[in-house]
Formats: sequence, C-alpha cells, structure tokens
Amino acid sequence: VKRITTHVLQAMKAKGEKIAMLTAYDFSLAGIIDAGGIDIILVGDSASNVIHGHETTLPITLDQMIDHASAVVRAVSRALVVVDLPFGTYQGNSKLALESSIRIMKESGAHAVKMEGGAQVADSIRRILSAGIPVMGHLGLIPQSIYKFGTYAVRAKEDAEAIQLQEDAKLLQELGCFGMVLEKIPAHLAKKVSESLFIPTIGIGAGQHCDGQVLVTHDMLGINKDFSPRFLRRYADLYETIKGAVEHYVKDVKAQDFPNDQEQY
Ligand code: KIV
Ligand code: NA
Repeated sequence: VKRITTHVLQAMKAKGEKIAMLTAYDFSLAGIIDAGGIDIILVGDSASNVIHGHETTLPITLDQMIDHASAVVRAVSRALVVVDLPFGTYQGNSKLALESSIRIMKESGAHAVKMEGGAQVADSIRRILSAGIPVMGHLGLIPQSIYKFGTYAVRAKEDAEAIQLQEDAKLLQELGCFGMVLEKIPAHLAKKVSESLFIPTIGIGAGQHCDGQVLVTHDMLGINKDFSPRFLRRYADLYETIKGAVEHYVKDVKAQDFPNDQEQY
C-alpha cells in the first residue's frame, strides 16, 4: 500500500477529497483503524482521559505518549501517524519543543507532531520544522488550556477571538505547518478559515466545511458511554457489546458451560 504523506494530504485538499482522521493509542486498535482506510492516525493526548483515566489531558507524560506512539507505528502500514506533544513539553521553550519532538520521532518512528496554539508557539513550530519534522497545528478549543478557558464550551463565538483564530491559522500556514485541527468553533468560522488556506483543516465540532474530520475513536465506537456532545456521531455501541460479551462469558464459566469438550486438550 502507498503511504499517506503530508504532501498527499495537501493534494487531497486541492482535489476536494475529504480527509478522515481518528485517534489510536495501541497496536490492536491502530491495526484495525489502518485496515479500515483511515488517512491520519492521531496518537492524541486524549489518551490521558480515555486510556489513563485522568480528568484532563494535562497529566500525560512524554514517555507515555512515546509508548503509545511506538505501539501504533508498529501496526500501521498506510496512515500518516501524528503524535500530540503533551502539556509541558513545548510551551514557552522552543529548545525543549525541539528536543521533545526529536524524542517522539526517534523513539516511536511516528511521522509528525501536533501542538496546540497559534502565535504563542510560533518559535517552537519554527524550530521543530527547521529539523525537518512535520508539524500539525491545533486551534479553537485547545484542551491543554482548559484551566485558562474554565469550560469546554464552543470557542471563538465573539469577534475578537474569531479574528485572533483566523490570524493564528494564517500564521500556522506561513510557518509551514502541513495542516491543523480546528476544535469546537462555529461552522461558519471554520468554513472561512478553511477557504482561506491551502493547507487542510481537520475539524472536530467545527462543521462540514473543514477539509477533513477527526473523532476520538473511543467516543465514536461508543466505548465512552457518558460523553455525548452534539458533534459526536456514534458508529458502534461497544460499551454494550463488550459488557454483553463479558456477562455471557461470566455466565458460561459459572455454569461450567465453558470450556466444553472441544475447547480443551
Ligand atoms: O488528543 C486528541 O484526541 C485530539 C483530537 C481531539 C484532535 O487532539
Ligand atoms: Na490532543
């Protein structure tokens, strides 16, 4: 199979072909997701929530992200694998940002890094790109800043923040980012930003006019039962499927139905 590259993604935008992106954090699911024809696999710091059980994305470490990323890379033969720089490994320090990115690329074999923010991380982006490492941006609701926002509500509804977001998007493109995630912003703003750029925008809660879409795999598979924002479409109900299978197994073991004559040596 032909690998997806950052160049392929820009060609897809130019052709008007939408880009499909999902998260993965482990070998088994990453392999299934890659086989399903996904274009980008994000080793998101959402692993902090869905894998490690933290309330926010802030506690996950660079070592943990590299662990997840190496497992994902071993399973993937087609998708572009992008890894989130976790909180505290790039903000306000471009040297640290480069060192963190080099560790991710070297130790996991991933293809690109992603970081949150616009102008405030420009120096870090410049320095990472100068080392030949592709960078994806992330604007709008940036979860590593949750304590600054104070809420997970839609961002950039007010003019000032919307104007700032458009400037940041332009800046990310000028710096040389190959694309950016737009999270939880009004659809009309995401449309305007997407039309103003030649690099692709990947939306989550940002409407139908983005150049691609991303969801957290555990959310779209219905493993996370208690998370139902408007932007989430569930493509499976794995919580019920897995719980049902476990209940069935428990019942069979207790009833001495499993294992049967054929299921032993
Ligand atoms: O960490 C993550 O899963 C993300 C996506 C929601 C874009 O950043
Ligand atoms: Na993230």
